[in-house]
Amino acid sequence: MQKIRVELGERSYNINIDGACLHELGSSLVRFEFSRRLALVSNPTVYELYGAVVSRAIKDAGYELTEIIIPDGEEYKSLQWLQNIYEELLKARLDRKSALIALGGGVIGDITGFAASTYMRGIDFIQVPTTLLSQVDSSVGGKTGVNHPLGKNMIGTFWQPRLVWIDTETLKSLPEREFCSGLAEVIKYGVIWDSDFFDFLEAQREKVLGLDTDALQHIIRRSCEIKAEVVSKDEREAGLRAILNYGHTIGHAIETITGYKRYLHGEAVSIGMHLEARLSEVLGLIDAEKVKRIRKLLESYGLPSEMPEGADMEGLFSAMQLDKKAVSGDLKFVLPEKIGAVKIRGGVSAGEIKDAVR
Ligand code: NAD
Ligand code: GLY
Repeated sequence: MQKIRVELGERSYNINIDGACLHELGSSLVRFEFSRRLALVSNPTVYELYGAVVSRAIKDAGYELTEIIIPDGEEYKSLQWLQNIYEELLKARLDRKSALIALGGGVIGDITGFAASTYMRGIDFIQVPTTLLSQVDSSVGGKTGVNHPLGKNMIGTFWQPRLVWIDTETLKSLPEREFCSGLAEVIKYGVIWDSDFFDFLEAQREKVLGLDTDALQHIIRRSCEIKAEVVSKDEREAGLRAILNYGHTIGHAIETITGYKRYLHGEAVSIGMHLEARLSEVLGLIDAEKVKRIRKLLESYGLPSEMPEGADMEGLFSAMQLDKKAVSGDLKFVLPEKIGAVKIRGGVSAGEIKDAVR
């Protein structure tokens, strides 16, 4: 088992990475001294695959477990389903020393984390992420939340998990498209932080796409190490953490104008990463050859890199203005300067963005 520490003072926690380790989860909870009543939150897809083993592991360790199953889909990361979760927690009489266990992808992790951060003014939670995106990104760092009808992820908290328990074997049941979508966030870490990691992803494409155990564990470990380092330095996104948003300013806007239907999150981020690299080129911060390398790597993992045909450019601009990251209308972009280093810059003109996106 590989262990990574997210250093956040008294809120520090471990990320444990291994294959076929779900059955060991129960015994690893004992040291937290939770009360006897815990709750598992999952969806029917993931629960069917892994619910029994996780549930058994927790009960065998001596806990009473309430299981809360919410429907599968982004639309259920909502205030209404949050309310249903609170109701189940209250009915099962979870107390202030209880904990929630999120078993699933980013949707389950985000809503469970939010519920934990607000139930009885905040109780503990454990992340058991089962998609690549959630294993390398959303389960680490403590951003939790739900969607509002007027905007995605608009209601949320920073609330760190007590433990992140990653079983890489769960990726074997993940649809290929979901896996590749998660790879966009993995490639992101190479571009923003670590050129050797970028080289690894270029060289080991077949092993990664073939779900080779060592390659998978390496990309998950390195991604988590980078995220842990960034979050440890800037938990609340006062500065540095914003580099994790590389590709997301344009990516989120693309998701908005396509109604969240055409692209998975990582696919939209992939287009965003290429176009934000091109924006960096337009601004004279990076040379064309490196932008091509970024694009080639994304495409080699089956990810899209260009705006959809006939995209509504005005819609894209207004969607960018609504971005959570815009302050007083000024958008900040994360711009690669070379492979492995980025800079954050505001004051980019609409003309420059148009030149990059065109
Ligand atoms: P998801 O949670 O919707 O999971 C994708 C699909 O895969 C779902 O249908 C799910 O049921 C299924 N699935 C999950 N694990 C499986 C497995 N092992 N085998 C088979 N099927 C499996 O999507 P996601 O990409 O994991 O997460 C997206 C969400 O994460 C979005 O809501 C996004 O806003 C959020 N997010 C949060 C952060 C953060 O820092 N908190 C960061 C990035 C994204
Ligand atoms: N996914 C970006 C962050 O956690 O900050």
